[in-house]
Amino acid sequence: MIVNNHTEKGCTILGIESSCDDTSAAVIRNGRLMANVMATQEVHRNYGGVIPELASRAHEQHIIPVVDQALREAHVTANDLDAIAFTCGPGLLGSLLVGVSFAKGLSLSVGAPLVEVNHLQGHVLSHFIDIPDRQLPHPSFPFLCLLVSGGHTQLIVVRSYFDFEIIGNTIDDAAGEAFDKCAKVMGLPYPGGPVIDKLAAAGNPQAFRFAKPRVGGLNYSFSGLKTSFLYFLRDKVAGNPDFIAQHQADLCASLQQTIIDILFDNLIKAAAHTSIREVAIAGGVSANSGLRRRLIDESARRGWTAYLPELKFTTDNAAMIAIAGYYKFLHGDITGLDIVPFNN
Ligand code: KG4
Ligand code: ZN
Repeated sequence: MIVNNHTEKGCTILGIESSCDDTSAAVIRNGRLMANVMATQEVHRNYGGVIPELASRAHEQHIIPVVDQALREAHVTANDLDAIAFTCGPGLLGSLLVGVSFAKGLSLSVGAPLVEVNHLQGHVLSHFIDIPDRQLPHPSFPFLCLLVSGGHTQLIVVRSYFDFEIIGNTIDDAAGEAFDKCAKVMGLPYPGGPVIDKLAAAGNPQAFRFAKPRVGGLNYSFSGLKTSFLYFLRDKVAGNPDFIAQHQADLCASLQQTIIDILFDNLIKAAAHTSIREVAIAGGVSANSGLRRRLIDESARRGWTAYLPELKFTTDNAAMIAIAGYYKFLHGDITGLDIVPFNN
């Protein structure tokens, strides 16, 4: 049911994302992206992972310039906004607080209502962002979405913009965490996912075999893979201190292949169980070139229609928050100033 009749005169939504280490602001007008500005925090690179306190401070520094630039690029002012959408969680509390507090302040000053967005819903709804220069295909409901990020690994049946059923979940680490932690073990920089992806291109995915976990139903587990990878390398390095450097590409390719196999074992099962043939991937790990290729191959083999997000909408971004906010706003789903962020 659409209760807000804003589409005729145009509906302009500002999206704000600050759940982890990216400060981002985007403007969506009638579902179409007008601006998507991002400030990535380099400060964490030296630590091999995100330091929450440093992330909050960097969000504080970036939020005003990022929002200001997004509004300017979209050729709108804050007074033109119909609503302000922001990530309410899950994420790092200190980081979320910066975005939530900023959204509240702006809402009060320009009189635009607030729309709270769940970060995971944002990742999934990134498939509905329209861009100015090209027509991107939107999945039809119901579709199956493999959501793979640094914090989450879920199989979701998406029945509408607002009706999500999680049918599989990780019981420990997320797929992105597996990439990042294994990269750290190999001495690669953070975040490890994109680095492994790049190095894997020159490697043999069959060079090494790592055990896949046995988990019931459609759930996932990645902590065992990280541990067996660590022990495997420890043994090899004991015999040859240069083992990692000499086999870097093969290690990356084999590890990436194992993670993709684990993800697809359950995705294939889920598609069979639900008889859904519209299959999407979302989240930071959906940028992975091997995962994207595999979805295309499996879709051709199984008669699925594959939906791969544009690379710029895979990792955290405010465009996905703005599009989720847009649909929620049209649905009349606005929130009060008493809203508080949640971390899990
Ligand atoms: O969605 P996202 O930006 O943040 C969370 O919501 O967690 O995902 C970040 C994760 C990191 O673990 C990062 O290593 C992973 O996405 N990632 C990748 C690639 N690009 C980002 N993993 C594998 N291959 C990539 N190309
Ligand atoms: Zn994310």
